[in-house]
Amino acid sequence: CGIVGYIGHREAYPVIIKGLKRLEYRGYDSAGLVLCEDGKFNLSKTKGKVSDLEAKAEKELSLKGTVGMGHTRWATHGVPNDVNSHPHFSNSGELVIIHNGIIENYEPLKKELMNRGYVFHSDTDTEVLVNLIEEVQKKDNLKLGKAVQVALNQVIGAYAIAVMDTKTPEEMVVARLGSPLAIGIGEDEFFVASDASPFIEYTTNAIYLEDEEMAIVRLHKPMKVRKIKDNSLVDPYIQQLQMNLEQIEKGGYDHFMLKEIYEQPSVIKDTYRGRLHANKGIIQMAGVEDNLEKFTNARRILIVACGTSWHAGLVAEYIIEEFARISVEVEYASEFRYRNPIINSDDVVIAISQSGETADTLAAIKLAKEKGAFVFGVCNVVGSSISRETHAGAYTHAGPEIGVASTKAFTTQITVLTMIALRLAKAKGTMSNSDYQRYLLELELIPEKVEEALLSNDVAKTIAGIYKGAPNCLYLGRGYNFPVALEGALKLKEISYIHAEGYPAAEMKHGPIALIDEHMPVVVIAPKQNHYDKVVSNIQEIKARSGKIIAVVTKGDTQVRALADHVIEVPDTSEALTPLLTTIPLQLLSYHIAVMRECNVDQPRNLAKSVTVE
Ligand code: G6P
Repeated sequence: CGIVGYIGHREAYPVIIKGLKRLEYRGYDSAGLVLCEDGKFNLSKTKGKVSDLEAKAEKELSLKGTVGMGHTRWATHGVPNDVNSHPHFSNSGELVIIHNGIIENYEPLKKELMNRGYVFHSDTDTEVLVNLIEEVQKKDNLKLGKAVQVALNQVIGAYAIAVMDTKTPEEMVVARLGSPLAIGIGEDEFFVASDASPFIEYTTNAIYLEDEEMAIVRLHKPMKVRKIKDNSLVDPYIQQLQMNLEQIEKGGYDHFMLKEIYEQPSVIKDTYRGRLHANKGIIQMAGVEDNLEKFTNARRILIVACGTSWHAGLVAEYIIEEFARISVEVEYASEFRYRNPIINSDDVVIAISQSGETADTLAAIKLAKEKGAFVFGVCNVVGSSISRETHAGAYTHAGPEIGVASTKAFTTQITVLTMIALRLAKAKGTMSNSDYQRYLLELELIPEKVEEALLSNDVAKTIAGIYKGAPNCLYLGRGYNFPVALEGALKLKEISYIHAEGYPAAEMKHGPIALIDEHMPVVVIAPKQNHYDKVVSNIQEIKARSGKIIAVVTKGDTQVRALADHVIEVPDTSEALTPLLTTIPLQLLSYHIAVMRECNVDQPRNLAKSVTVE
């Protein structure tokens, strides 16, 4: 979910609506807002997108008020409908709350409150929390901040909340545990949001609350940050934000996803800028250099991640094992955290996350730290929870990724992980100097080769037109390109809702081959690489069963071309770097299919970009 709040001298409504639109990547199944006008809260909320809320609010509210807050929801407890949308009022109507996260012990709390006569209108855990705050406040006649604090100490779960009270309308209380919360500090005005994008044009001064911290934000008064547990005052660190507005707008493209696909040549360059010095034969990444011994002495590298980041981890497994000869295991963070994993103090854990906020990944990191491992983060969002929770790390520098389907985050993650693998290979002497040098030069050429791979856009679009009606699609790849097959399939299912599966090409004969007939499109990733001949045999097996073959090949390929129904060419590169190129046409293919199916490319149904609940 995304939350945004404002207290100051401007009209709050435009700030909130614009802010919610920027936060929509965090969830978009319902939205709502409350504005404070003359000490009264005016509420509007609805199932649907922020644009639906906008239409509704403009009909039913005066839109006046310089204090207010809004929410865009990704449902956890309770189906997305008007009643379950946030904000939620307390029974008296005096308190109002917005919440991102999950209150795990909401059932016993709800029962207790019901026994005391509280009535609930929604199925949400959030409504329980706001009434708990009210109960606490009434019982001991507490100020809002104190009541929030006492209530939160009774709560188990994760939250970023903002609460207001009609009795003190120029005050907002916010708190964080597990879900992110940024506070923008302007001149005599404050912004509160799940990330800094809603307030970037108003101020670059921001505080990111730490877990178990709360802040009391009051007009014309200095802000106070306290620890929720013991009420101690915290001296918060004010960050200077680097992001600019242009980076979070579409820049002439129809969709953020397309813009982000096309940004890949430049962001990959940003990723290695200042780190890769190919002509000097040097790779330098501060986080790795400072901890080089930890890496080189590691008995094992464990990679934890979710979704597309997990796929980047799988590519890294192939690359790190090959280059640096360190054994690598890649785990879904959600599985890892709950299965009492074996972690030793000489293990290095690499956590990969675009947002740096994924709840499962964050929990996996905490567990690994508890067990004494050194944890290294590969994140995109600067200052995110994961980047702060890890011992060291390397940012991907891909810039804000807004499209829910991850594209540039994936290729920049692979770029960072490849640089790490090369640095470790050099330190451990596991790669010949000539290979090392060749890889550095090749990596430096990747942005222009990605540029060339993007020329496949028209071919991808034509192929999309042919297969847009397919109910299923299979993606096959081997070696470094097996994870690319998984990622290709994920992209297609995420945004076009076509069922798609990725498989190691040779495993096809142990199951998926049963699905192949003349209606089944099979995307085969078949660049010139080791085992190329084996992939050719797999293609023949598909052809023998009349499957339709869409092959991603190296420029100039003739053998696969002779067999496939369609080919998409990418430039030649060293084998381990092929995922950075073969991924590109698969992103474009999914994009065009989704557009042709009239799907919401940037905000596919049921998904969210940043999953801060487990
Ligand atoms: C969500 C997004 C995916 C992303 C995954 C992990 O499911 O929709 O695109 O890969 O979370 O996110 P992270 O921010 O940790 O990379």
